[in-house]
Amino acid sequence: MIEITFFEHQQSEGTTITAKPGTSLMKAALAGGIEGIAADCGGTLTCATCHVMVREPWLSQLPTAKEDERGMLEFAACRPQANSRLACQIELTPALNGMQVDLPQSQY
Ligand code: FES
Repeated sequence: MIEITFFEHQQSEGTTITAKPGTSLMKAALAGGIEGIAADCGGTLTCATCHVMVREPWLSQLPTAKEDERGMLEFAACRPQANSRLACQIELTPALNGMQVDLPQSQY
């Protein structure tokens, strides 16, 4: 299992969940009851309500965001940061175990 900790906007204490490798970060968040992920489109890359900011060193472990993910991030409710990603496009791998992710102030 892979552990991921989500931090609500400007909170120092996070919520840790576990998920199986191969699951998307978005699906793991929903299954784990992380309220800061809306995921309105269900992972079809048409909503940007699964916006997250991935902390290092895990960000560097991720494949580079594809053009359509980068384009959709421009529609996120909160301005994208350099480490912004869409959680539905992140597949959890053992290398991401322990990952820490910040949630934006809002997804709308
Ligand atoms: Fe809609 Fe990720 S869930 S873009």
